[in-house]
Amino acid sequence: MDARFCPDPATLSRATPAPASTLVIFGANGDLTKRLLMPALYNLSVAGLLADGFSVIGIDHNERTDDAYRGRLTEAIHAFVADKAGELSASVLDGRAWGWLRDRLSYLTGEFEDPGTHHRLADRLAEIRRIRGHGNCVFYLATAPRFFGPIVERLAATGLMREEERGFRRVVIEKPFGTDLASARALDGRLLGLVAESQVFRIDHFLGKETVQNILALRFANGIFEPLWRRDHIDHVQITAAETVGVERRGRFYEATGALRDMVPNHMMQLLAMSAMEPPNGFDADAVRAEKAKVVQAIRPMGADELACDVVRGQYDSGALRGMPVPAYRQEPNVASDSVTETYIAMKLHIDNWRWAGVPFYIRTGKRLAVRRTEIAIHFKQAPYAMFRGTPVECLTPNFLVLHIQPSEGISLCLSAKEPGLTVRLADVRMDFRYADWFKTGPSTGYETLLYDALIGDATLFQRADNVEAGWAAVQPMLASPAGVERYAAGSEGPAAAEALLARDGRHWLELA
Ligand code: BG6
Repeated sequence: MDARFCPDPATLSRATPAPASTLVIFGANGDLTKRLLMPALYNLSVAGLLADGFSVIGIDHNERTDDAYRGRLTEAIHAFVADKAGELSASVLDGRAWGWLRDRLSYLTGEFEDPGTHHRLADRLAEIRRIRGHGNCVFYLATAPRFFGPIVERLAATGLMREEERGFRRVVIEKPFGTDLASARALDGRLLGLVAESQVFRIDHFLGKETVQNILALRFANGIFEPLWRRDHIDHVQITAAETVGVERRGRFYEATGALRDMVPNHMMQLLAMSAMEPPNGFDADAVRAEKAKVVQAIRPMGADELACDVVRGQYDSGALRGMPVPAYRQEPNVASDSVTETYIAMKLHIDNWRWAGVPFYIRTGKRLAVRRTEIAIHFKQAPYAMFRGTPVECLTPNFLVLHIQPSEGISLCLSAKEPGLTVRLADVRMDFRYADWFKTGPSTGYETLLYDALIGDATLFQRADNVEAGWAAVQPMLASPAGVERYAAGSEGPAAAEALLARDGRHWLELA
C-alpha cells in the first residue's frame, strides 16, 4: 500500500509486476469484462505490471473460438481507447501492450454451473501449470449474483480452490453481495464453508477510486486535520453521490433493487467508513478493515420515528438535463408504469462512538440529478461572533472542507476572508487543490488497482465478510419499512423533502448545480 500514497506521477509503473497467474473470468462476454476488466488489464499491461506467465481464460455460455474472442475484445479495446481520447492521456492504442495481452487470452465455452465446464477448466489449468510452471489462479465472478454460490461450490468440488505451495487460489466477487442482511450472511456462510476468508475478495469498485483511497492519506498523513476531525470541531458531515444518468438498460435489475440497495450499504458506507473510521494501526488489510467495520457497526439503528423523519425516498420524473428532455423513471424500459422504486435516497445517520457523538452524517444519492458529483463535505462548527459586533458582518459562514471524489478529484477548503476596503466585510473564499494540477494521472478505469491487488493478494481494498454485513445491518431497518417516494424533476437537486430534512436541523445541503 505504501507506494500508493507516494506523490510520484509514475506510481503505477514503480510497482513490481504481479506474480505469474491465470485470471479466469466467469462472464467473459458480459459488459463488465468488456467495459472495465479488459481495459484495466490493458492498462496494467501498458504499465508492465503483468508477469510473463500471466494469462486469461474467459468462460461464458456462447460458443466461441479463442480467435473470435480475441477479435471481439480487440474491437472493444479500440472503442475504449477512442472513447477516452481527450479525457485521458493515452489516446492511441499501445499495440505492443495489447498484442501482449491478446496473445494470452483464451476462451472456454460452458455453463457456469455445469460440472463439465469446471472439469475442462481444471484440464486447462493443469496444462498451464505444465507450460508456465505455476498454479496461481484468480477466479473472477463477473456474473449475475445468482451464480456466485454455485460457481464457488463447483470450483471447490472440482478441487480448484485448493491452495498449494506454488499455487494460490482466490475468488473475486462483484457486487451486489446479497440483497439484505440475511442473504449476505447466507452467502458468506455458503462461501466460507468452502474456502477461507483470505481467499475471498469482495469488490466495491468505489475503493478502486484514487480519491477514495486518498481520504486516508488526507486524514492520517497530515497532522493539521486529525486533531479537528471529531465532534468538538465538526458540526456535521454531508456525503453525496449524485448521478446524471438514469437507470439506462438496467430497468429490470433496478426495479428490484432501488437506490438504497444499489448504493448505500456498499459505496456510501465505504465513503462514510473512510471519513469516520479511527486511525488503523497500519495499512495492512486487517487493520484497515477492522476499523472500517467498527465504525459502520456503530451506526445507530433507526427506530420508527427516525425511519419516518430521517429517511427521504425520491423517484425521478421527466425533466431536462443539459437542455435535453429526459423521460421519467416510470417510462424507462422494463420499469412498471406505477413503480414505487426509489431512484434517490437521503438520510440522517448517527454514529454512536466517542469521536462522533452528536454529529449527524447526512447521506444522499440519486440518479438523474442536476450534476454528476461524488463528494464528502466536512462542515466545521461556526466561530463565535462577538468581535464583529458593530461591523456590517451579520453572520459568519462556517468553514467546510470538501473532498471531491469525482468527476474532478481534489480538496477544497471554504473560508471567510475580509473583502478589501475600509469597512469590515467578509466574503466566502475557497482554497482549491486539484489532483490533476499536481500529479500526472495515467488512464484508469479504477479496476487496475483492484485487479492488481487481487493478483498480489493485498485485500486492503476489498470487503471482508464483517464489512459487508455491517453495511447491510445499517440499512436493514430501512429495507424492512419501505415508504412512499416523492417525485423530483430529472435534472433537479432531488426531492423537496430532502432539503426539509436538513432545514429542520437548521442546515442545508451544498448545492449540486
Ligand atoms: C454501481 C451502481 O455500483 O455504481 C450504479 O450499481 C451506479 O447504479 C454506479 O451508477 C456508480 O459508480 P460510478 O463509479 O459511476 O460512480
